[in-house]
Amino acid sequence: MASKNNKCDVLIIGSGAAGLSLALRLNAELDVVVLSKREITEGNTLYAQGGVSAVLDSSDSIESHIQDTLNAGAGICDEQTVGRVVRHGPENIRWLLDLGVEFTRAEDSESGYHLTREGGHTHRRIIHAADATGKEIETSLVGQVKSRRNIRFIENSLAIDLITADKKKNTRRCVGAYILDLKTNKVDAIAAKTIVLATGGASKVYLYTSNPDVATGDGIAMAWRAGCRVANMEFNQFHPTCLYHPKAKSFLITEAVRGEGGKLLLPDGTRFMDKFDDRGELAPRDIVARAIDHEMKRLGCDCLYLDISHKGKAFIEEHFPTIHARCLDLGIDITREAIPIVPAAHYTCGGIVTNQNAETDIKDLYAIGETAYTGLHGANRMASNSLLECLVFGQLAAESINNNQLSRRKFHEVTDWDESRVSDSDEEIVVSHNWHELRQFMWDYVGIVRSSKRLARARRRINLLKHEVTEYYSNFRVNNDLLELRNLLEVADLIVQSATRRKESRGLHYNLDFPETDSQQAEPTMLIPDHYWPNKDF
Ligand code: FAD
Ligand code: SIN
Repeated sequence: MASKNNKCDVLIIGSGAAGLSLALRLNAELDVVVLSKREITEGNTLYAQGGVSAVLDSSDSIESHIQDTLNAGAGICDEQTVGRVVRHGPENIRWLLDLGVEFTRAEDSESGYHLTREGGHTHRRIIHAADATGKEIETSLVGQVKSRRNIRFIENSLAIDLITADKKKNTRRCVGAYILDLKTNKVDAIAAKTIVLATGGASKVYLYTSNPDVATGDGIAMAWRAGCRVANMEFNQFHPTCLYHPKAKSFLITEAVRGEGGKLLLPDGTRFMDKFDDRGELAPRDIVARAIDHEMKRLGCDCLYLDISHKGKAFIEEHFPTIHARCLDLGIDITREAIPIVPAAHYTCGGIVTNQNAETDIKDLYAIGETAYTGLHGANRMASNSLLECLVFGQLAAESINNNQLSRRKFHEVTDWDESRVSDSDEEIVVSHNWHELRQFMWDYVGIVRSSKRLARARRRINLLKHEVTEYYSNFRVNNDLLELRNLLEVADLIVQSATRRKESRGLHYNLDFPETDSQQAEPTMLIPDHYWPNKDF
C-alpha cells in the first residue's frame, strides 16, 4: 500500500514544456508531483532551437497559420484541434513572457520581438531565444515550479507502468504508477487521483536521432499496455539537418538557418532543392529530408552541406551563437565554410489518443506534449508547432483537472510491486545487444524510405526481440536499460503495424511500393489494444 509520501492529487510524469506548464497552471491547493527520469531539465524541450510558432504580427493571421499547419499535415490533421491550438498561440506566448522568458528582441518589429521563418510557414511567426529557445523556456519554467510550495519534484525516477482499476460498467480508471528509483533501484507505487503522461517522444527507436537519451517513448508504451488507443505512429519526422561529425552525437542545426537564407549544397557546392520543390530549402521537412536522403544515396556520400556563411560573422554570431560555438569546438567555422549535415529522427507525430481536454481512453489519465496524439500534426508536423502544442494542451489539461474537484475525492488502494519471483540478471549483454539491433534495423527498414518487404522484415525481428525481452522482464529485476528497451520495442511494434497498414505514401510516411497518395486513405491510423474499453467521458 502507498505511504503518505507516495500519494498526491496529480502525478505528472515528465518535466518538459508540457509537464511543467501544466504543473504551473494547476490550482495551488492541489498536491502535485512532477516525475523526471533524469535531472529535471533533461528532455527534448531543453534542446529546442528554432522557437515557438504563433501569430504575433498584423501582417500574419490565424487563418494563415491554420492553413500552413493543414498543408504540412498532408490532409489528415484534425481541423478542430488545429484551430484550437493556433488560436491559443498568442496568449501562451504572453504567458511565457509574463513568467520571465526572454525572447530575442527586434526594436524595429511590430511585436518588439524578432520573428524567424521555418519550413512550411508562409509568414515570419517563430518567436525564439536566439538558437537556444528550449533552454530559455525550460530553465524559466523550472525556476517557477521550484518556487511553488504545492509542487514536489522527484528526479532520477522512471515510471514503469500505470496502475489501473476496473470498475463496474466497463470503465477503467488510472489510480497510480509504479516507479523505479534509479539511485536505489527500488520500485515504489505512487497513488494519485489524476495521472498525466508528459513523457515526450520516441525518436531513440532510431539509430540516428536529434533527441536526448530519455526519448524512449515510455508514455506511449505504458498507455498502450494499460489499454489506450494510439494513432499515427507511422509518421516519424526526420529532421533534414543534424550535424555530421564523429563527435557530435545528436546535435541539431536549426531549420531557422534555412529560414534566414541558408543553402543546401551537394559536395561539389551546387544547390539542389529547387529540383524537388518550388519552395526550395523552405519546403516542409518530409520533402527536404527525402531530397537529402535521395541525393546522398545517388552520390554515395556520407553527408551533404548547409551554408549560411554569406550572411556574415556578426549576423551568425547574433542569431546562431550556440551552433556557431559548437561547430567551432569541432573545427568548423560556419562564418566561413558550409556545415556537414545528415537527416536524423527528430519527432514522433503519433502517440496516445486524446480529446480536446487531453483526456485519454482511461479515466483520470491525461496525455500532453509529444507523447500525445491530438490531431494537430497530421502526417507531418510543421516546425515549431510542437512547443506550442505542449503549452496549449498544458493549459487545456489544467483547466479540465482544476474542474474535477480532486480535493473531495479519495485515493484508490494500490498494491505493492512484487519482486518475489525475480532475481538479478545474469546476462546484461542481452539488453545492450538488443538495444543496438533494434535501433539499427528501424533505421535501415523503417526510416525515411520504406518498402513492404522491409516492414515485414522489421516485424519479424521485433516479434523475436519482444519474446526475448518479455522473458527477461519476467525473470529478472528491472533496471533502466531493460525498461527502456521494453518500451522501445513496444513503440517499434506500433510504428511498424501502422506503417504496414497504410498502403500509400503521405507526409512523413513514404513506401516505395505505394509511392502515391490515395485520397481514400485520408484518415489517421488508429491502433486499438486488445483490452480496450472506451472512456465514457471521452
Ligand atoms: P520532453 O521535453 O521531451 O520531456 C519529457 C520528460 O518526460 C522528461 O522530463 C523525461 O525525463 C520524462 N520521462 C520520459 N519517460 C519517463 C518515465 N518513464 N518516467 C519518468 N519520466 C519520464 N519544437 C518546437 O516547437 N520548436 C523547436 O525549435 C524545436 N526544436 C527542437 C530541437 C531538438 C534538438 C529536439 C530534439 C526537438 C525540438 N523540437 C522543437 C521538438 C520539441 O522540443 C519537443 O516536441 C517538446 O519539447 C516535447 O516536450 P515534452 O514536454 O512533450 O517532452
Ligand atoms: C529546428 O529548430 O529546426 C527545430 C524546430 C522544430 O523541430 O520544431
